Amino acid sequence: MKAAVIGLQWGDEGKGKIVTYLSRDFDCVIRYSGGSNAGHTVDYGDFKVVHHLLPSADLKKRKMMYIGPGVATDFDVLIDEIEQIDQFLPHARSLLRISKQAHVVIPVYKELDEKIDKSRLAAIGTTRRGIGLSYANRALRCGLRIQDLEDTSKAKGLIEELSRIWQVDVNAQKILEELMIRYSKIHDLLIDSLKAVKNLKDKDLLFEGTQGVLLDVDVGTYPYVTSTNCSSTGIQAGFAYPIKIDQIYGVMKAYTTRVGEGPFPTELRGEEGERLRKLGGEYGATTGRPRRCGWLDLVLLRYAVELSGCTSLILTKADILSGYEKIPICVAYKINGKIFEELDNLEFIDQVEPVYEIFDGWKTLHSKEFERFVAKIEKEIGVKFSHISTGPRVDEIIKI
Ligand code: GDP
Ligand code: IMO
Ligand code: MG
Repeated sequence: MKAAVIGLQWGDEGKGKIVTYLSRDFDCVIRYSGGSNAGHTVDYGDFKVVHHLLPSADLKKRKMMYIGPGVATDFDVLIDEIEQIDQFLPHARSLLRISKQAHVVIPVYKELDEKIDKSRLAAIGTTRRGIGLSYANRALRCGLRIQDLEDTSKAKGLIEELSRIWQVDVNAQKILEELMIRYSKIHDLLIDSLKAVKNLKDKDLLFEGTQGVLLDVDVGTYPYVTSTNCSSTGIQAGFAYPIKIDQIYGVMKAYTTRVGEGPFPTELRGEEGERLRKLGGEYGATTGRPRRCGWLDLVLLRYAVELSGCTSLILTKADILSGYEKIPICVAYKINGKIFEELDNLEFIDQVEPVYEIFDGWKTLHSKEFERFVAKIEKEIGVKFSHISTGPRVDEIIKI
């Protein structure tokens, strides 16, 4: 069995929790996209971890974890996280392998990330984790892969080349020395992509998506997106093998959030937004920034489900809405007086006016009102829910 967990909105749908829960039925959890821009919170009840780079495999079940070549790897974050999981579960690091062909996020990328975002006509509001720089340098063929550190003089030459290309003054020797200290700490975990594929391809694999379809570089709200195919289309490239995926779980929040800039038709501004933000604890797991909050948007959801090839839905954070009298759902957009239930692309997404249907709120998730909300989503989207998450802890989930 091969499955993937994909965010259907602008990230932070609760992928980490869902991956941890589902991982119990798989041999290995694989990260194929993004980097430390991701922040996946997993609440085990007795302890909590936030994964930025490590796959969210269930630590208590000792599942294997693999970071594929498509992941932008920040050594500092990686080492911190390895030390963190080792504390909760001794020797957890032995379960982890990292592709040698993954690219390294050099610290100067983060400064450049900020500088570029500030030079734009309109800032994207990146996480400043150097993710865009890492993927750009990979495409420009001047990136530093982990395997390049096997030859220190080659690696130094690559860092000097980067400083010429980006016209930044750096002390290449110092950068290299610092990277080598960190490299030596993870050296035992490195593996060639080919060997990893050979070891894994016949096992039960769960691919952990980062961000969400609406942040995908090709189908998201470009240019307000991340730099990779974080949707399911990125799996094969990020794993470096044309793996066939049997099941694609699309994770969606019962409402919508977004961090950073960009269009957001159902955004609630002012007090209403603040209320939802507080109730949902909607502050970035990576940057701590307040997340923008708004109602569920079925037009965007239809688009995301279609383009991600989602085969079943998983709902999260509906418990946060418990107690609301009325719950609006955006079912269509009004554009120049005309009503659209579907969009072919997201070109004019900043010019739409949401059309809402108002649902009765619920007091608990065991109520007719909540059932109606769930049935509405399934009917409109044409895909069924396989699970409903009822709280932050891994075990707070109902299998349907
Ligand atoms: P991810 O990036 O998609 O993994 O999501 P984040 O971890 O950034 O944000 C989701 C937050 O919601 C985390 O703090 C989770 O612990 C929490 N969470 C996940 N599912 C639920 C749920 O069903 N109910 C509640 N109340 N919290 C949830
Ligand atoms: P998880 O995996 C929410 C957003 C940033 C910014 C845009 C580009 O936790 O869902 P980048 O640093 O990638 O160049 O920033 O993408 N972004 C996320 N928003 N959740 C994430 O990850 C995100 N990763 C990036 O806020 O708008
Ligand atoms: Mg997150």
